[in-house]
Amino acid sequence: MSALEGGTETAVGLPGALAVASGQSAEVLAILNLAESGDHVVASAPLYGGTYNLLHYTMPKMGITVTFIDDPDDLDTWGAAAQPNTKAFYGETLPNPKNNWIDIPGIAEVSHANSVPTSSCTPPPSTSVATACRSAA
Ligand SMILES: Cc1ncc(COP(=O)(O)O)c(C=O)c1O
Repeated sequence: MSALEGGTETAVGLPGALAVASGQSAEVLAILNLAESGDHVVASAPLYGGTYNLLHYTMPKMGITVTFIDDPDDLDTWGAAAQPNTKAFYGETLPNPKNNWIDIPGIAEVSHANSVPTSSCTPPPSTSVATACRSAA
């Protein structure tokens, strides 16, 4: 485990990766690393069902509100949904079951223009690609 996590050590010696046992765990950790009670997240609506439930039901119970973007390719809607307390723009790079790639550079550009850190996370379902989590403050 430490070899896996240490293999992507950052320039300042911190672990560059954290290995967890499920995609859902990775998503929870990614979001809670950025947002806390009173904060807001903007999320792509095309999501794996478990992810949708996490954002629609569980996060609000923890005081984190979520605005869903029906068409993640409409970049203007991401910017329009941003609030002063928005801490993350969230999408699955390869949402299950639609498998419609999201425009990470485009969404990141809008997020940075709105001073929102971007958190984009694709958990690793067995039928899909490897985990790719990215957080750019
Ligand atoms: C796109 C996507 N996100 C999240 C998950 C959840 O991953 P896990 O079942 O490992 O918690 C899955 C699982 O299939 C998935 O396909």
